[in-house]
Amino acid sequence: ESTTEIDLSAIETGQAIKAVFRKQPVFVRNLTEREIAEADAVPLSALRDPQTLEERTKEGRTNWLITMGVCTHLGCVPLGAAEGENRGEYGGYFCPCHGSHYDTAARIRKGPAPLNLEVPEYEFTSDTTVVLG
Ligand code: FES
Repeated sequence: ESTTEIDLSAIETGQAIKAVFRKQPVFVRNLTEREIAEADAVPLSALRDPQTLEERTKEGRTNWLITMGVCTHLGCVPLGAAEGENRGEYGGYFCPCHGSHYDTAARIRKGPAPLNLEVPEYEFTSDTTVVLG
């Protein structure tokens, strides 16, 4: 199966889930207004892999941050998609393998990873359903 359907209806604001897409972990996160504001406040010049949150999400659905759960350093699965996990110094995701910190747009901010968490191809097929792939 090359596509994966995800039901967003049970993911509350501030919550994230881990799913599987093409045998790899994928993170789906419902960002809070504050997390969106934090991401938007960062100048692109401060970023190793400069991208806005808007470029990493769909128009009108900036709160839905969908990324691969694969650290761009050496491929570990970062923490932060499950309740109570360490989200790192920038409130996004934290890779404990060698200490990469990602922000609330899952952009690399500190540590050895060279790139932001990858945004897979996906589309919304309803307000509460996305199809990856
Ligand atoms: Fe994530 Fe090295 S694999 S920091």
